[in-house]
Amino acid sequence: MASPDSINLIKGWPSTSLLPTKHLSRAAQIALADPSIAFPGLLYGPDEGYAPLRETLGVWLSDFYQPEQPVGKERITITGGASQNLACLLEVFTDPVYTRDILFAAPAYMLAFRIFEDNGFSGKMKAVPEDDDGMDMSLLRKALEESEKHSSGNKTPMFKPPRPYAKYYRHVIYCVPTFSNPSSRTLPLDRRIELVKLAREFDALVISDDVYDFLQWPADLNASPSSITKALLPRLVDIDRFLDGGPERSGADGYGNTTSSGSFSKIGGPGLRVGWSEGSPKFAYGVSQAGSSCSGGAPSQLTSTYMNILVKDGTMSEHIFKTLQPAYAARYKTLVSAIEAHLYPLGARLPQSNRQVVGGYFLWLTLPDTVNAIDFAKRCQNEAQVIIAPGNIFEVPGDDSVKFRHSVRLTFSWIDHDLMVEAVKRISLVLESCLKGERPEEAHKQDGVNENPY
Ligand SMILES: Cc1ncc(COP(=O)(O)O)c(C=O)c1O
Repeated sequence: MASPDSINLIKGWPSTSLLPTKHLSRAAQIALADPSIAFPGLLYGPDEGYAPLRETLGVWLSDFYQPEQPVGKERITITGGASQNLACLLEVFTDPVYTRDILFAAPAYMLAFRIFEDNGFSGKMKAVPEDDDGMDMSLLRKALEESEKHSSGNKTPMFKPPRPYAKYYRHVIYCVPTFSNPSSRTLPLDRRIELVKLAREFDALVISDDVYDFLQWPADLNASPSSITKALLPRLVDIDRFLDGGPERSGADGYGNTTSSGSFSKIGGPGLRVGWSEGSPKFAYGVSQAGSSCSGGAPSQLTSTYMNILVKDGTMSEHIFKTLQPAYAARYKTLVSAIEAHLYPLGARLPQSNRQVVGGYFLWLTLPDTVNAIDFAKRCQNEAQVIIAPGNIFEVPGDDSVKFRHSVRLTFSWIDHDLMVEAVKRISLVLESCLKGERPEEAHKQDGVNENPY
């Protein structure tokens, strides 16, 4: 093998070279030098979050997603990022008994599992497999029907009191419909509409992590670099807002059935800990009433003031469209080209090959079906010093019905071009060796990937 230095293709972090430190430094100076910004920024914030950012986000999201009507600030609550928001959503809108199940588009974002477990859903999490176009809607319907069948008599929340600002949903569906982590797939429009209809029919809340939507570029590796400044597809929350009268249609309770979780983690930096939760005004207010926000005020109040400055004056858009999109597109191209050159000849494949636009941080690589992904990932680490994520870590805990024995996730956001190429060359040698049935001694040196590698 070439250089023994370890190469990390598992970390789903933004490249440090792309962090907007200069912009943030300017915004911080403006915010802290002006008492009209600094004082509210450093005090407890309103439950719904820093009002100027809610307003600015509404304008910004309207411009990007182009919904039929603009997004007003009453639809937005500021969060501490998608992860913290997920915890708040479950605290406010679920009951661990009345809420019958948590259905994940699988493979699923693995760090979400514990947040559901923390809220009492261990043993109630189920996988709905993706096909090449994302979550399979007929299997989702089946899963919803199945869990309704087994929940007769479960008519009231058992652990949460009635609340004037919230409702408890019977089901939760968790997904990343655009440039998914880990599968990189995008759910097409017809399935998005079907998903919203199913959620309405079964009183489900669809929690949609929309954290990669802005990071998109042409799938064609030979396309000349250009920014894509509008969203590819409507979000689930946009569909739910307008379909057949939306959450205010006759007979509906006004909460809606989907929420969009946005975040500056992937387009700014995760340390900012700022995101947003969008839903119907009633829903967005409910999110803000999580106990921790009522006690401590909305999270990330100070960094919200920085992000308000940068979004409002156009800096974030410019950073995303002129810096991040071309940079990640180039990284994507490097990784895909290396895979095509070194891994395709060995039978590995990438999903959803018919797309015009791709994006996000990840590639989901399916290995030949004689190659076990856990074994392969261990050998990549031990023999090639390349760290990759085996498919099993994206399997829903407690549900053995959906396995990813022959898939691995590779990240292109974190490491530089030359290292990506080197990593793929190294793992192609491991794959070749697996295909020949060789089992070198070193393959058993370590069990599993590095500790806390994500
Ligand atoms: C699908 C998904 N949701 C949420 C997160 C975490 O987002 P945040 O940093 O906003 O908590 C990630 C990060 O990897 C992610 O991939």
